[in-house]
Amino acid sequence: MAGKVFFSVSMSLDGFVAPEERTDEPDAQRWTAQWRELQQWIFPQRYFRENLKLGEGGEEGRDNDIVRETFERTGASVMGKRMFDLGEQAWPEEAPFHTPVFVVTHEKRDPWERPGGTTFHFVNDGIESALDQAREAAGDLDVRISGGGATILEYVNAGLIDEFSIALSPVLFGTGIRLFEGVDADRIALEPVRAESSPRVTHLTYAVRER
Ligand SMILES: NC(=O)c1ccc[n+]([C@@H]2O[C@H](COP(=O)([O-])OP(=O)(O)OC[C@H]3O[C@@H](n4cnc5c(N)ncnc54)[C@H](OP(=O)(O)O)[C@@H]3O)[C@@H](O)[C@H]2O)c1
Repeated sequence: MAGKVFFSVSMSLDGFVAPEERTDEPDAQRWTAQWRELQQWIFPQRYFRENLKLGEGGEEGRDNDIVRETFERTGASVMGKRMFDLGEQAWPEEAPFHTPVFVVTHEKRDPWERPGGTTFHFVNDGIESALDQAREAAGDLDVRISGGGATILEYVNAGLIDEFSIALSPVLFGTGIRLFEGVDADRIALEPVRAESSPRVTHLTYAVRER
């Protein structure tokens, strides 16, 4: 049986999945500080720390279980080129996916194999092709649309997302990359699946239905 197609992101309370892009040095520091606030719930989690080689130990409560469950259900990922470009600089040599990853891009590039089971494939013929390849690679497991905002929105508007989870962080950005900017609201209906709260963050899960 084919798995689900889902995304799972951290979002600021005012709807942003990344701070505004900044280039010069003080602004780059501000970007990083805001990014850390957005992700403040995930950095202490044991599973996340192990996967990103951030060090031993960490928290083991429900937040940690959610990180682990999200990883374990994922048989392949799809991401946009901007997320890949940032990750290429930030991920450890053993990239944290351990599955095939399909990068939707205009750039032509040979597959990039990392130690530990992650291979990045660069897909130039659109989101449906990337998803087909990811489904094939994932087998019975789910496909995660990893991000960023632009790529997730393309999949939402194409009616290709079955379910999504948002870790709603207690932070306000004011500007940045808004997750649902440009959503085809006439097409998408949501059904609440689950809401779970921890002291750090609120996890919201929805099934996506066509109107
Ligand atoms: N909050 C979270 O949990 C979370 C999760 C993931 C990412 N993020 C953040 O999201 C940000 C990146 O998101 P983003 O919205 O700026 O960009 P993105 O979705 O990562 O990438 C967009 C780029 O992907 C390529 N692309 C997308 N669709 C395509 C298509 N149909 N055909 C060909 N190429 C296509 C294009 O790049 P080219 O034209 O250059 O190929 C496009 O400019 C980062 O700041 C990242 O940190 C946040």
